[in-house]
Amino acid sequence: SMATGAGDDGHGAGAGATAIPSVILNTGHAMPVLGFGTGSPSKPADLANIIVHAVRLGYRHLDTASMYRTEPTVGAAVAESVRAGAVPSRTDLFVTSKLWISDARPGRVVPALRESLARLGLAYLDLFLVHWPVAATAGGLPVDKSTLVEFDMEGVWRGMEDCHRLGLARSVGVSNFSAAKMERLLALAAVPPAVNQVEMNVGWRQEKVREVCARHGVVVAAYSPLGAYGGFWGSDAVMESGVLHDVAAARGKTVAQANT
Ligand SMILES: NC(=O)c1ccc[n+]([C@@H]2O[C@H](COP(=O)([O-])OP(=O)(O)OC[C@H]3O[C@@H](n4cnc5c(N)ncnc54)[C@H](OP(=O)(O)O)[C@@H]3O)[C@@H](O)[C@H]2O)c1
Repeated sequence: SMATGAGDDGHGAGAGATAIPSVILNTGHAMPVLGFGTGSPSKPADLANIIVHAVRLGYRHLDTASMYRTEPTVGAAVAESVRAGAVPSRTDLFVTSKLWISDARPGRVVPALRESLARLGLAYLDLFLVHWPVAATAGGLPVDKSTLVEFDMEGVWRGMEDCHRLGLARSVGVSNFSAAKMERLLALAAVPPAVNQVEMNVGWRQEKVREVCARHGVVVAAYSPLGAYGGFWGSDAVMESGVLHDVAAARGKTVAQANT
């Protein structure tokens, strides 16, 4: 799962499904606050069906990335969601993807987005993020440290601004940017970032990042809201939190629900 700070206007959900509220980004576009992540290490074989089911349940925001290798599946699920009538059209869905570190150099940003769009079968993204403030000459995982090169924040951001101006990404933003990096980016940006997607949950609250972003109207999106529980780099601080267990019991909810 993935979640952002609360907003208030409803974003159309189908009959029987729960309407997930949206937050208005600095571009004027509405972003549903609860997103469906597709970057899990478990890589289920039936991911396309899982996504279509999530759309039937009311999810409208799908989060992918070039690095996850789930863009073709997300694109197929978007097409199937429309075909099957889970949503009236593609414009009812909010699709986020991300620029991988091997494309984080000025001349590669627009071409990399066009490649993501081709894999997704979409004409535009709702949100395109710089995945990490890191650049490398190779894209594999785990990242080979000998391939790391200096990250040209300004050059990469000019490419992101081009993506926005070309209409290929309705909103552009970043991910994994510290408070200091946000300040640097905001000082040079002609098109300000709409979102900073960072690891955030009750055990990791990102207070400095949230303060800078709030001051500049940048929405903070939380990834690993459950602490990436069970993941190889995850933590049990959320799912085994005594406070969340108490809140969940008092409200008759699961711990995961109590956290969002
Ligand atoms: N921008 C970035 O750099 C970045 C980095 C990481 C993630 N993300 C995005 O954020 C999304 C979510 O992050 P995440 O997968 O790392 O972390 P997460 O949502 O915090 O945790 C996922 C883990 O929690 C378990 N889980 C899910 N629902 C549960 C429930 N109701 N009860 C108990 N356990 C539950 C899952 O188990 P099962 O697998 O068994 O369901 C999985 O192991 C990703 O898919 C990706 O889209 C972005």
